[in-house]
Amino acid sequence: MPHFLDLRDISGETIHALLAEAARQKTKRSTTRDHCLDGRTLALIFEKNSTRTRVSFEVAMRELGGHVIMLRKDDLQLGRGETVADTARVLSRYVHALMLRAYHHHTLMELAKYADVPVINGLTDLLHPCQIMADILTIQERLGSIENKKIAWVGDGNNVANTWITAAMRLNFSLTLACPEGYVPDSDILKQAVSAGAHVSVTHDTHVAVQGADVVTTDAWVSMGDDDTLSRRQAFEAFRVDDVLMKLAAPHAIFLHCLPAHRGEEVTSSVLDGTQSAVWDEAENRLHVQKAVLKWCLGVL
Ligand code: CP
Ligand code: NVA
Repeated sequence: MPHFLDLRDISGETIHALLAEAARQKTKRSTTRDHCLDGRTLALIFEKNSTRTRVSFEVAMRELGGHVIMLRKDDLQLGRGETVADTARVLSRYVHALMLRAYHHHTLMELAKYADVPVINGLTDLLHPCQIMADILTIQERLGSIENKKIAWVGDGNNVANTWITAAMRLNFSLTLACPEGYVPDSDILKQAVSAGAHVSVTHDTHVAVQGADVVTTDAWVSMGDDDTLSRRQAFEAFRVDDVLMKLAAPHAIFLHCLPAHRGEEVTSSVLDGTQSAVWDEAENRLHVQKAVLKWCLGVL
């Protein structure tokens, strides 16, 4: 009963197998129905808003023959103080898998500890592994492979940035993150990556990160749960992906963003809507990756 919580828990080989299954699911979506999750139910638990994660998991589950139950935290007794552990024990008696989007990573770990069914990380303050799987699938489609590619992260050292670092511990690519001082990625994850020999570095200079990159990616300056909006807007002013910055990347470079985008903040509309942008494929790929993750967690991959 594997959980899908953190790419560090998953081997490079399994990551590649999941990506291959996601690509297969994408190819056959319009012609064949794979009802391998017939009769299974997934509970989707959200403490925070979601468009892509919520809809892609729901459609993925339905297209694989299963069902979903959508639960906002406040719909549950969890919102009135029932413990995460007791919630995990009870929900495990009803459903076959749980997905949680939580404010705090420790809430996810607590759910996984007490659940008797697989738990999937639908984003926490620390990590967003389903997102990076979709990003890597998009890179494979556009650039052939992620092997030896140069990935440039511009902006906040947030949950998505941390997950890129965890991916660099499992797959062979180089990652340079340009972040303002005070907004660098999680120091434990970074230390672990460096001591594991991953090709990861952090700079405060966006030009250093983007020069010659195959992929340029960014995310919101203010993530869900961040409350220092004003100081962030000031700190990140020089960390916007615009056409001038994109020109420093390789000519074939693609632009990725997990979305939602804040046009004019972390990215200009001309980059987001431009010819190098792969963001809509990236969003679509969430669906195909969710199918692979669900099949793996439920033992039918
Ligand atoms: N990228 C992503 O996780 O989007 P949602 O917040 O809409 O789920
Ligand atoms: N870093 C963003 C990602 C949203 C998908 C957040 O946590 O709000």
